[in-house]
Amino acid sequence: MCGIIGMISKNEFSSGDLIEALKKLEYRGYDSAGLAMIDNGIRIVKSVGGIKNLEEKAEEWKARIGIAHTRWATHGSVTEANAHPQLSNNGKIAVVHNGIIENFQEQKKFLIENGFTFYSQTDTELIPNMIEYHMKRGYDFVEAVKRSLKHLEGQYAVVAIHKDENKLIGIRKEAPLVVGVGKGIFFIASDIPSFLDYTKNVIFLEEKDMVIVDDELQIFNLLKDAIVERPVVKIDWDAEQAKKGEFEHFFIKEISEQVEVISKLSMLDKEIIKDLADEIRKARGVYIVACGTASHAAMYGLYLFSKISKRHINFCVASEFPHFHHFLTKKSLVIAVSQSGETADTLAAIRAAKAADARVISITNVMGSTLMRESDKSIIQRAGPEISVVSTKAYTSQLAILSLLAYELAGKLEEGREKLKELIRYVYYLTSLNMREHVRKLAEGLRYTEHMYIIGRGLQYPTALEAALKIKEVSYIHAEAYAGGELKHGTIALIEQGTPCIVFTSKENEKETISNAIELKTRGAYIIGVGPNNNEVFDFFIKVRESGELNSICQIIPIQILAYQLALLRGCDPDRPRNLAKSVTVK
Ligand code: AGP
Repeated sequence: MCGIIGMISKNEFSSGDLIEALKKLEYRGYDSAGLAMIDNGIRIVKSVGGIKNLEEKAEEWKARIGIAHTRWATHGSVTEANAHPQLSNNGKIAVVHNGIIENFQEQKKFLIENGFTFYSQTDTELIPNMIEYHMKRGYDFVEAVKRSLKHLEGQYAVVAIHKDENKLIGIRKEAPLVVGVGKGIFFIASDIPSFLDYTKNVIFLEEKDMVIVDDELQIFNLLKDAIVERPVVKIDWDAEQAKKGEFEHFFIKEISEQVEVISKLSMLDKEIIKDLADEIRKARGVYIVACGTASHAAMYGLYLFSKISKRHINFCVASEFPHFHHFLTKKSLVIAVSQSGETADTLAAIRAAKAADARVISITNVMGSTLMRESDKSIIQRAGPEISVVSTKAYTSQLAILSLLAYELAGKLEEGREKLKELIRYVYYLTSLNMREHVRKLAEGLRYTEHMYIIGRGLQYPTALEAALKIKEVSYIHAEAYAGGELKHGTIALIEQGTPCIVFTSKENEKETISNAIELKTRGAYIIGVGPNNNEVFDFFIKVRESGELNSICQIIPIQILAYQLALLRGCDPDRPRNLAKSVTVK
């Protein structure tokens, strides 16, 4: 959830450089931030609020080693004292941390009994003090870090520095940490975008890897108790992709990028799709699991595999999946869908599958992510870095991949690829200024709304779920989605004069869905139609041409735009919704 970064360079860099790198991780948390640099001792600055506040407060320091942190609070309220970096009692060791130390209370008690004092409510403060404790017993910095982290339970990614050591040390357990290898400069960070301005060469650390960087780089694996080699991978992400450029927010930039994503995926290597489809063909019992937006993509897969490939797969939100482990055998296949590849609930689901010797394949956007490394096979979404906390282009890329898989399973991959190609120009239109202007009129009418209902049948049902999530997470309007036929089984009691209801239609289910819209209108609802044909029941209409099985890709786009505009009109920050973090790395 938090974003951490460490930088070590042959040449001096400034606190401003470190803050710039940290900004690329702000999507991971933004309730407080801080940095520490080694310059005649440890200089440290922290602030509550977004990185902008830290930037205003920080002086222009220069150093060759520094660490920084942007926080999404778990232990301890949002205060400067609880912000990272956290210091050891002797002021020599500073640490940034992402994750949760589960046994921190007993470890803290142990340190207090050994004379240490705690100044924050964080679990993190334990780490620098534990390192100090081991150093006092004669271990050097590296060995002390190793000993300290070995006995900590939970999930963590940590970067540590010592005022007298020309070293940066990083260590990971069930939380993401990657190494950027530049010319005379190294980074240890939660995610790649933070160092893309300097290098595209990345080392993906494995579980319990500890990386020590001074003039050289060495990786020690705590599980193997040995020095290990990890390959340097050149990634094809671009520094510009991780910047806002001419756009005001990442959210709208990423909505606009969907056209490139669809275009790239329409040309995806056939063998990659065939390989995964073969896994599905071979399996006895296929389960698709994911969380949040990715779960709506997974649910789309459920409908699509039935419709196009005439195959039944089982869908489950990842956090519930471990309750179904009883059905898993070594012939089962679990397909996990996750943009980040780091979502704790999704990882727990695939670990439950692995425990039953089932096969696991994944659809993920992040190369080298934990999900990718723990899966038997993976497909990379090719959506490029998704920085906005609210997922848009990653979602449509998941839909596109699932559609290709469904077509391949039906022996019609070429048809699927052609359909995606035909969509490219249209997706461009859907993200254009014309569409944005049209949707803005709707947003103006809805800006003071408190509740909204959204319905769709068949493939439009997961679209309705995703539309509701988009509106909720970014505009804080309560939006609830139902399968078209379900609302009348209870929730229709909540419809009053003027209650906005979005109704997704398609050629296939137009009649029934319009009947449902009429039921709502009869109770006073304000009906917003999204689909191929206007209808007298609609008070507002967003035309989205009929695209059959790919309607889901097209129909969500105007609602992503609606959510964005509602956020702006209601004074919400679209890139940094309250209480959320991009990847939820805690269960
Ligand atoms: C999307 O807008 C969300 N913020 C969230 O639901 C997200 O999709 C979910 O946490 C899953 O993330 P993942 O795809 O990285 O696993």
